[in-house]
Amino acid sequence: MLVATASISLLGLAAAHMGCSGHNIAKRNVGGENNVIYGKRQVDNANLDVTAQCTPYTYAPMANSKAKYPGIWVQPATLVPGDSEAAALFATINATVQQKVPNSNSPHGTLKGDWAGVNYPAGDADCWWTNSRCTTPAESLGIPADITNLPEPETWGLGFDDGPNCSHNALYNFLAENNQKATMFFIGSNVIDWPVQAIRARDDGHHICVHTWSHPYMTALTNEQVFAELYYTRQVIKEVIGVTPTCWRPPFGDVDNRVRLIAAGLNLTNVLWKNDTFDWSVGTNNVTAADVTNNYQKIITAAGQGQYATQGLTVLNHEINNFTMQEFIEQYPNIKGAFKHIVPIAAAMNWTHPYVEQNYTFQDFNEYVAGAPASGAASSGGASAAGSGTATGSAASASASKASTKGSGAGATRPAAGILAVAIAATALLL
Ligand SMILES: *[C@@H]1O[C@H](CO)[C@@H](O)[C@H](O)[C@H]1NC(C)=O
Ligand SMILES: *[C@@H]1O[C@H](CO)[C@@H](O)[C@H](O)[C@H]1NC(C)=O
Ligand SMILES: *[C@@H]1O[C@H](CO)[C@@H](O)[C@H](O)[C@H]1NC(C)=O
Ligand SMILES: *[C@@H]1O[C@H](CO)[C@@H](O)[C@H](O)[C@H]1NC(C)=O
Ligand SMILES: *[C@@H]1O[C@H](CO)[C@@H](O)[C@H](O)[C@H]1NC(C)=O
Ligand SMILES: *[C@@H]1O[C@H](CO)[C@@H](O)[C@H](O)[C@H]1NC(C)=O
Ligand SMILES: *[C@@H]1O[C@H](CO)[C@@H](O)[C@H](O)[C@H]1NC(C)=O
Ligand SMILES: *[C@@H]1O[C@H](CO)[C@@H](O)[C@H](O)[C@H]1NC(C)=O
Ligand SMILES: [Zn+2]
Repeated sequence: MLVATASISLLGLAAAHMGCSGHNIAKRNVGGENNVIYGKRQVDNANLDVTAQCTPYTYAPMANSKAKYPGIWVQPATLVPGDSEAAALFATINATVQQKVPNSNSPHGTLKGDWAGVNYPAGDADCWWTNSRCTTPAESLGIPADITNLPEPETWGLGFDDGPNCSHNALYNFLAENNQKATMFFIGSNVIDWPVQAIRARDDGHHICVHTWSHPYMTALTNEQVFAELYYTRQVIKEVIGVTPTCWRPPFGDVDNRVRLIAAGLNLTNVLWKNDTFDWSVGTNNVTAADVTNNYQKIITAAGQGQYATQGLTVLNHEINNFTMQEFIEQYPNIKGAFKHIVPIAAAMNWTHPYVEQNYTFQDFNEYVAGAPASGAASSGGASAAGSGTATGSAASASASKASTKGSGAGATRPAAGILAVAIAATALLL
């Protein structure tokens, strides 16, 4: 067990599936833009230098768009004043939520995932205990179940959370060299910060989903904040990348029926995960790289033992830092050896049109595994050369001060249904 076990054993839980928890999502110093020296900069896929890749730049097409969005990394996102279109859509969705889950409007816990004092009813009518427990809401609510297992056997559903990471060229090059597509769960704030990197995901033929604007615990938010976190991420992906996703993943796997209903109002299907590599957790709670390698190995061993003979699984990976990306690269041959197929979620689910824009066609499962040429995404991904964009950049704020999310560690496990959460004083990790 590589997570801190104190509160877990206290509550008698088998495992904490709080992936994405406690990780250190670097944030750019937004204010740095006021004093930069602008100059021409070409972001080149072949450039593997981290400093070069992560030098902040302004992207001309978005130069006048930022006011339409919540502040970058401002947590939580809220409706932008004067955005009547968003407000009108929210009002409609909110009415549905009030009608369907009238008694579940109060947010749970805190933005940082502290559930101290949260007394959660035993019946779990809200289907809150995500991932480790409830992933299938009551049918009467009309919300689809979360995706965790995959219908196709011996299949590893490949996805990377928290991107786009400024320094992801080595990973994306590796995926391209292996003709491997993945599902990218993008954070809106990262898309607006690193638009050229975000566009590369589309040009490389990856499948893009929403992963919120600022990476909060979603059940801690008001309806409006939940809406804004999802809505503006979907919008910025559309504006920057040109596609409107129809899937999302909740940070930390934190979701309940209220949040699901708001996402459903935006036509976003919840793609959770079955198993977590815990790649995000290295350095927290004494977790080491070797522990993560061992987690990969456990899944790989389970595959060898026939555990996925009847269905596949979604696995949680991240593009947050060099370790999470490099570890995947190193494990890839082992995964390939143990699983018949490694596929993006779109292929696993036969989502051949995963975007609202119908002119992007993805391969269904059979086509993907047969290596059929893509009819849309990768081959006709738009005008710009793959992954490169002309941008004016700043030399000045390369070392823009990085803030970190105060993630809470696995200790921020939710109170078990019916158990009063005594002192789950999550060890907030101030990394
Ligand atoms: C949305 O629903 C909540 C909870 O029922 C309510 O408090 C709030 O006023 C509603 N907001 C709008 C804009 O209707
Ligand atoms: C991406 O990864 C690098 C390390 O490779 C890290 O320094 C950077 O802050 C990360 N985050 C983002 C948002 O790009
Ligand atoms: C969701 O999809 C339906 C059916 O395609 C469409 O009518 C509706 O406008 C979509 N809602 C949003 C918020 O995009
Ligand atoms: C990490 O290891 C040190 C030294 O073994 C120990 O004192 C500490 O309690 C550990 N921390 C956690 C969160 O497990
Ligand atoms: C995968 O996660 C499930 C719970 O979702 C757990 O029971 C199982 O042990 C995990 N498998 C591996 C190989 O880690
Ligand atoms: C991680 O860093 C090492 C050393 O700088 C580098 O060789 C490697 O390509 C990096 N991996 C990724 C995925 O960025
Ligand atoms: C995907 O479509 C193929 C037919 O092309 C079918 O055999 C398979 O069962 C479908 N998988 C899912 C998850 O719908
Ligand atoms: C899809 O249509 C949009 C709008 O017409 C266009 O900008 C985009 O390049 C098209 N993409 C593909 C893959 O055809
Ligand atoms: Zn995440």
